[in-house]
Amino acid sequence: MPSFRLSNLFFALLSIAGAVRAVVEPTAVYDGGLQSDSDILLRIASGGAGQQGLVKAIADAYIQESVKNGSKPFKVSWVLSDTTFSIKNLQSGDADIGITYNPAAEKIAGDQGIIDPKTYYLFRDHFLIVGPKENPASISNCSDVQTIFAKLYQSADKNSANTTVPTRWLSRYDKSATNMKESQLWLSIGQVPWSMPYSTWYHQFIAFPVQALTTAVQLKEYTLTDRATYLSISPEVASQTVIFKASSDDADDPLLNPAHLLVGKKTQNETLAYHFADWATGVNGQKVITDFKKNGQQLYSGAPKDDTRQRN
Ligand SMILES: *[C@@H]1O[C@H](CO)[C@@H](O)[C@H](O)[C@H]1NC(C)=O
Ligand SMILES: *[C@@H]1O[C@H](CO)[C@@H](O)[C@H](O)[C@H]1NC(C)=O
Ligand SMILES: *[C@@H]1O[C@H](CO)[C@@H](O)[C@H](O)[C@H]1NC(C)=O
Ligand SMILES: *[C@@H]1O[C@H](CO)[C@@H](O)[C@H](O)[C@H]1NC(C)=O
Repeated sequence: MPSFRLSNLFFALLSIAGAVRAVVEPTAVYDGGLQSDSDILLRIASGGAGQQGLVKAIADAYIQESVKNGSKPFKVSWVLSDTTFSIKNLQSGDADIGITYNPAAEKIAGDQGIIDPKTYYLFRDHFLIVGPKENPASISNCSDVQTIFAKLYQSADKNSANTTVPTRWLSRYDKSATNMKESQLWLSIGQVPWSMPYSTWYHQFIAFPVQALTTAVQLKEYTLTDRATYLSISPEVASQTVIFKASSDDADDPLLNPAHLLVGKKTQNETLAYHFADWATGVNGQKVITDFKKNGQQLYSGAPKDDTRQRN
């Protein structure tokens, strides 16, 4: 039957098109310092934790320990992507593991069968509200987060043309977890600054965390960042900005930034992906996280002890 053959040909062409689809190139490849000529067995999609070097630290420790335990050497790659893109990479099969920061997006990905709905609480990062020393909005760390946002809005709304340092806010505006958190905080005071066709003070700047914070500092703008990103910029740049509010480890703190590890349904090797997830949230993996330092300072808190594996 010619029609049957034609449709076969059609599907064959479709699968060739699928096979030549652009592959997501790794941002970095880690080998545990073993310099072996081995394959990449695990691909991790992550934003900030990759940029700060935590993915490298975890990957290297995992490879070294696996080899010590008798495995053949292998490699782990990191793909730079924020929460939204990490989930897309898991959906397309371009990553096996994601490290993300938005429980709502994680739950939807679980409901839609993109990831295993049981996610792993990996570590706690902490959001910070930072801004210029001049502090034109006169915000103070004694106020709660909503009061700070209300003051920022009121001050920005009446910026005068001749202020040397006007109140301006840098928004990542990229659907990253930081952008979503910032949006929630504006909504919590009844404001939607991104809905203005043009704003003199709401600066939409699409960039990864380190670049976004550096730009905010250079332009003397307030922004939302996280502790690990803050400790990753050069001390010289960091000294030009002030932390006005920082999250505690309290689960109810509106500035707490919990990171979860996700296992994609299209993972190349399920056994390895789940072994890695259990290891990273177990004693040895958590020790790598809490030992991880920049300029002598610990960047992340481990996961809360009672809460490593969560059912969304
Ligand atoms: C190595 O073996 C030890 C002891 O069985 C185990 O606790 C640890 O999780 C293993 N590590 C890896 C990376 O397989
Ligand atoms: C607020 O900032 C001051 C000055 O930097 C600092 O000494 C104080 O500990 C901070 N308070 C809180 C609650 O963070
Ligand atoms: C400039 O600033 C001063 C002091 O804040 C204010 O009185 C004045 O009206 C401002 N001028 C303009 C043109 O905005
Ligand atoms: C999957 O990972 C496991 C555990 O590391 C390994 O033993 C196995 O050979 C891997 N399978 C494939 C197909 O690579």
